[in-house]
Amino acid sequence: MKKRKGIILAGGSATRLYPLTLAISKQIMPVYDKPMIYYPLSVLMQADIKEVLIISTPRDIVTFKHLLGNGEKWGMQFSYAIQEKPKGLAEAFLIGEDFIGEDNVAMILGDNMFYGERLEKILRKANTREDEATIFGYYVKDPRAYGVVEINEEGHAISIEEKPEKPKSNYAVPGLYFYTNEVVAMAKEVKPSARGELEITAINEMYMKQNKLTVEKLGRAMTWFDTGTHDALLETASFVQTIQKRQGLLICCPEEIAYQKGWITRKQLINLAEPFMKTDYGVYLKDLAKEE
Ligand code: DAU
Repeated sequence: MKKRKGIILAGGSATRLYPLTLAISKQIMPVYDKPMIYYPLSVLMQADIKEVLIISTPRDIVTFKHLLGNGEKWGMQFSYAIQEKPKGLAEAFLIGEDFIGEDNVAMILGDNMFYGERLEKILRKANTREDEATIFGYYVKDPRAYGVVEINEEGHAISIEEKPEKPKSNYAVPGLYFYTNEVVAMAKEVKPSARGELEITAINEMYMKQNKLTVEKLGRAMTWFDTGTHDALLETASFVQTIQKRQGLLICCPEEIAYQKGWITRKQLINLAEPFMKTDYGVYLKDLAKEE
């Protein structure tokens, strides 16, 4: 199978979270017991992606380096790049051109959180589509704040619009995109939109016109949050707390995923748990290492 690398886009100015984000990055904010970026990173890990480029602002990139390092501790490889100004999501593929090289790529937004039983299966399926792009459709009551995709009976996209006033469907496009290597060339063709951004929707439209775009519906048993406002941040944290307390299982715990995938050994897991032993998180990791 063709290799797929991952990009986490974790820049932007996050003005909708002011004053929280006046001095620090949105994607470092706590979502209950973990920094926000752990959630999208866990999704890439679940898709078996080990090489990840983290893109952030000149101010915040250093914070992510402190938090995540070179990825070795989780059996991964992390690289970092700066986006000087928030010129749009599609710019990630211009910034990431060298990193992507000859490979396919998946991009996730640093403030998107996904959770559900079928997620891993859906991601694996998207990964195997080597010659076409996969985006997702998530039914929401009011999709006007998102990219909106209209899907025909065969499951193909027939229109995609960015933040339409009159949406043609209820399917929002979450911030997770599986693309072929051609995305780099496509990103070079994108012109700034009316709001002055290189829109990801423009890339999706290009794939759609080439008949190379699959839209995978996420289904009602899946959870997708974008944590960009005060309410959304708190609601996502409450969701994580509720499920974790009930089940005693952590949502989007990178150490656990790395261990399950065999990217780190039991010994490494125990070492990772050690500095966290004053928290339930650390105890959880230690218990994982005890299980057969
Ligand atoms: O969350 C899903 C939605 O994300 C999609 O449905 C839309 O099609 C897509 O355009 C995007 O819409 P948003 O309005 O939510 O995008 P926003 O400008 O808030 O940026 C999303 C994240 O990406 C945010 O965490 C900040 C970061 N970002 C944004 C831009 C424009 C960057 O890192 N660099 C950027 O240039």
